[in-house]
Amino acid sequence: MDVRFLLNGETVELSDVSPTLTLLEWLREARHLTGTKEGCNEGDCGACTVMVTDVEGVTALNACILFMPQVDGKAVRTVEGLAGPDGTLHPVQQAVIDHHGSQCGFCTPGFVMSMAVGHMNGARDHDDQLAGNLCRCTGYAPIVRASETVEDQPVPDWMQDTLPKAKGNLMQPESVEDLATLYAAQPEAVLVAGATDVGLWVTKGLRDLDPVIFLNRCAELRAVTDGQDGLRIGAMVDMNRLLEMMEERYPSYAEMLRRYASRQVRAAATLGGNIANGSPIGDNPPPLIALGAVLHLRHGATRRSLPLEDFFLDYGKQDRKPGEFVEAITIPTQPDRLKVYKLSKRFDQDISAVCGAFSISVNEGRVSAARIAFGGMAGIPKRATAAEAVLIGQAWTPDTIATAAAALADDFTPLSDMRASADYRLGTAQQMLERYFAEDTGDALSVLEVAP
Ligand SMILES: Cc1cc2nc3c(=O)[nH]c(=O)nc-3n(C[C@H](O)[C@H](O)[C@H](O)COP(=O)(O)OP(=O)(O)OC[C@H]3O[C@@H](n4cnc5c(N)ncnc54)[C@H](O)[C@@H]3O)c2cc1C
Ligand code: FES
Ligand code: FES
Repeated sequence: MDVRFLLNGETVELSDVSPTLTLLEWLREARHLTGTKEGCNEGDCGACTVMVTDVEGVTALNACILFMPQVDGKAVRTVEGLAGPDGTLHPVQQAVIDHHGSQCGFCTPGFVMSMAVGHMNGARDHDDQLAGNLCRCTGYAPIVRASETVEDQPVPDWMQDTLPKAKGNLMQPESVEDLATLYAAQPEAVLVAGATDVGLWVTKGLRDLDPVIFLNRCAELRAVTDGQDGLRIGAMVDMNRLLEMMEERYPSYAEMLRRYASRQVRAAATLGGNIANGSPIGDNPPPLIALGAVLHLRHGATRRSLPLEDFFLDYGKQDRKPGEFVEAITIPTQPDRLKVYKLSKRFDQDISAVCGAFSISVNEGRVSAARIAFGGMAGIPKRATAAEAVLIGQAWTPDTIATAAAALADDFTPLSDMRASADYRLGTAQQMLERYFAEDTGDALSVLEVAP
């Protein structure tokens, strides 16, 4: 495939690039720009963080799981392009030196790139900005202090990039119409959205993927509309944008998304990919099922819609025909009764062991509606229909909660794996329901605070 992008201020044009060549590999092997490090090669450590600018703004992305066609028409900056043309250091570089934010230095290029993106976007939430960058010698306090000290310093003028015209490729359709035609004609093709799963098939699974269809130039798939049916969110909406959208509507959903991977991964990972991959531990299906979301699929000229929970048939099996793709998802308008609880071994940047989502309406002391869904409790993201049935019509009391919690054992027979044992999964799912009740009836609970 052909690619044109700006690299550290200079236009690069490439022809016949393998569609699954990663930016990291190209930077290091073809350009010898070895400042961008390879740590994990799977999106976990942030050593490969680069700055990517497109029409929507400036983001930090992991170059190890970013395929070259994904930067077509964009501007990329690596650590080699952070200092000014006369060698003046970028403010974040100087601050890391001044605050002793580096020891062995392996992680440092990745950190300064995340810091430079945060600085450019006026970010103040430094812990969140840096949650995707791992350092094993310095400790994070000096690095966070360095970020704080540059907050009010101006962005250097050499950081302004003008976007080049994209080359465009046949396998990178620019409209949903073209995508539908192309995929229906080549249903064996692998769709690439954010590549936070597919990237690992290449870097870790060493798979040759061919043919590959990229969705990233299909702007219609990024559309969001707030209409009569509810909030319709395009399949290519990324997790950072989804988080912003949920902050006002469903704050608990937004809070869970803040713990979804890291900023770098969230900037790439899409809603469509998180649903289509059918993962039993994907973090979006539980809250979306609890909200009664409807999935919109398309095959050629044919469109169909179904409740999201019906899409997941069995482990690894979804209701999706060859050549059919996720176009959007609609969340019906409703009062916010949603709480989402993500349980993982590590607070930030970790996959859920259990993710529980609850939307329970109470009218005059009785439960009038209940939708409960879990990830990590079965081979698919699944509704807790037995527990819901116990709740509906009953008094909103601890006794009802105890009976419904017991009914979760009829809904789920969880597995034991490296993330959690079956007993622990069931026990924590039951406690999540108790927590929902406690929070709803006035006990403010936070896993980040220890109550006296
Ligand atoms: C470091 C790291 C941390 C992660 N942490 C989390 C986490 O905390 N929670 C979580 O849920 N996930 C996590 N993930 C997994 C991953 O981010 C998500 O599953 C992600 O949403 C996948 O979306 P994507 O756009 O990157 O999909 P891709 O990798 O591009 O595609 C994934 C699959 O979906 C298919 N696909 C993509 N878009 C469509 C579409 N529109 N229609 C049909 N099929 C499509 C692809 O063909 C592929 O089979 C993590 C991944 C990494 C690397
Ligand atoms: S090398 Fe670890 S995130 Fe890319
Ligand atoms: S300075 Fe050594 S890993 Fe961060």
